[in-house]
Amino acid sequence: MRHWRRLRPAFAETKLRLRAGRSDDMKTAVFIRSSLVEIIRNTMKYSSKNAQETEKLGKKLVSKLRGGETIALTGDLGSGKTVFAKGVAKALGIRKKITSPTFVLWRLYQIPKPGRIKYLCHIDLYRLTQSQDILALGINEYWQRKDTVCLIEWAEKIKRFLPRKNLFLVKFEISDLNTRKIIIDGVSDVRS
Ligand SMILES: Nc1ncnc2c1ncn2[C@@H]1O[C@H](COP(=O)(O)OP(=O)(O)OP(=O)(O)O)[C@@H](O)[C@H]1O
Ligand SMILES: [Mg+2]
Repeated sequence: MRHWRRLRPAFAETKLRLRAGRSDDMKTAVFIRSSLVEIIRNTMKYSSKNAQETEKLGKKLVSKLRGGETIALTGDLGSGKTVFAKGVAKALGIRKKITSPTFVLWRLYQIPKPGRIKYLCHIDLYRLTQSQDILALGINEYWQRKDTVCLIEWAEKIKRFLPRKNLFLVKFEISDLNTRKIIIDGVSDVRS
């Protein structure tokens, strides 16, 4: 029942499509299936109009963190992953300037006034060539540690190593110069 509010628009649209003769049984089934998958995964979709909005989404996500989470960011160059990461870092109280650790691949930040979360591990896999090379980076000590949040840019490169539990999947798509579609799996609405 708690999903009904999110399911209703999908059913309403399906009804309209069927009435308008714009849909056959197969298309309807696929549409309903994808709507259900989104609901089960708790998928939220946002449209960000500028970098500040994207940073704010990152900040809002922090209210859902308890420690031990992995935030997997995927999307093209310049789609806003680092901007989002800055929001996460700021909301955790990190005052250091956050830049993509493109060449060093990962950087560890200590949270100045730690609660349950003591470290943010910012990983950027743009230059990783083989997924198993992640094992040689020396991140192991912090990977899925209860007092650490791991945020990974270019997480699509290590799909098979991503944990299933405590995972937020954040997908970035460039719509135009300043608009980004941001899809977050595994979270209830982070706008409020
Ligand atoms: N809505 C938006 N959200 C985020 N960034 C935006 C937006 N509109 C414009 N931008 C600009 O797009 C760029 C995003 O850069 P950012 O470094 O965050 O991308 P990235 O996904 O981390 O890229 P890379 O894969 O190279 O690390 C910034 O210059 C930012 O100002
Ligand atoms: Mg980046």
